[in-house]
Amino acid sequence: MDSSRHPIELTESEKTVLNIINELEKREKNPETNEITISNELKITLSEEGIKKLKMISEKNIDSDSAIKSLKERSLLLNNRVDLELSELGKDFCKKLRSEQLSNWYNDNLLRNVKSQAYASFCEQVYGKNLAQYNVFDMHQLNALISSFNLKSTDLVLDLGCGLGKITEYVQHHSGAKIIGLDFAEKLLTWARANTQAKEGKLVFQVGDFDNLDFASSTFDAIYAIDTLYPWFIGSLDKTIAKISDILKPSGQVGIFLAQIIESKKDSYLLDPSSTEIAQALSNQGFNFSTIDFTANARSIWVKEIEIGNKLKKMFEEEGNLDLCEELINDGKRWLHRNDNNLQKRYFYHAFKKH
Ligand SMILES: C[S@@+](CC[C@H](N)C(=O)[O-])C[C@H]1O[C@@H](n2cnc3c(N)ncnc32)[C@H](O)[C@@H]1O
Repeated sequence: MDSSRHPIELTESEKTVLNIINELEKREKNPETNEITISNELKITLSEEGIKKLKMISEKNIDSDSAIKSLKERSLLLNNRVDLELSELGKDFCKKLRSEQLSNWYNDNLLRNVKSQAYASFCEQVYGKNLAQYNVFDMHQLNALISSFNLKSTDLVLDLGCGLGKITEYVQHHSGAKIIGLDFAEKLLTWARANTQAKEGKLVFQVGDFDNLDFASSTFDAIYAIDTLYPWFIGSLDKTIAKISDILKPSGQVGIFLAQIIESKKDSYLLDPSSTEIAQALSNQGFNFSTIDFTANARSIWVKEIEIGNKLKKMFEEEGNLDLCEELINDGKRWLHRNDNNLQKRYFYHAFKKH
């Protein structure tokens, strides 16, 4: 069943319970006890009793038993199972809910960023130019993308997750190619169109979802994705890379900037450029690729994010944007901590489709 043809209204409690089960289904279970580790003190099974023990349920005073009963009646959860399990309809609903929440978040935050003078100054000083970046992507990396691609003016290119489209516009300007910027945050695309009217025809901004790329086979000469192919943005990396391969022309090229993150040292093998999750997905789809290690470059960007964020705090505050500034500083600190504990690596993958 397709939930877009069967709109379902859920209460906030039902949405919370459904999202919790969706998240817990992805966690590792102890094969002997069937338990999922929530914290050092709390392990639960994915059951009605287990869910009740979660802080989010008790703090929000949610009656999880009646939410689960109602979700089962609406076929969002499977019935007659020992463990709670989402039905296909439930998974589909969660995906739509997540896309809605994420795109609303990006619409609101990135539009606030682009209207802020303090943010413009932050981008100039941290990245070398104000392209309203929302990533760890400076001019050094952008120039590496442009020179690796070496696009022709007749090329058709796809920017996956273009956001406000200022990077898309820069790549278009320096290559002459026609570029389609795709994103699910519609308000960002409205802003991008209004600010690039002179480029009409050479720059197109289109609403779309990475999980459902609606283009014909062999459409694009090149596709790039800057900080967008993360597990929290897409359902399946393999399926997305397979689709990218399908919509690329034979011998088409792909450019991907992405961090590989690991939670524990036992997964350190994933940090090798030929073993990262995206490297595996590219190999699985038969791409040939080379990589450039931008880990040290990213580290210097986070250091600058913290330093420049602190320097511009007053300016952000005077605009009423102190929260944006604090988020930038905290983001820099989180990534720096991860980096300095060898829990991440950042690479540029330049891949070619085999023909
Ligand atoms: C971290 S930002 C990067 C934006 C831009 N590439 C840049 O480097 O400045 C991620 C972007 O991907 C978009 N996005 C996330 N998940 C998406 C999805 N499933 N489909 C389409 N766009 C998505 C967000 O709306 C946001 O604009």
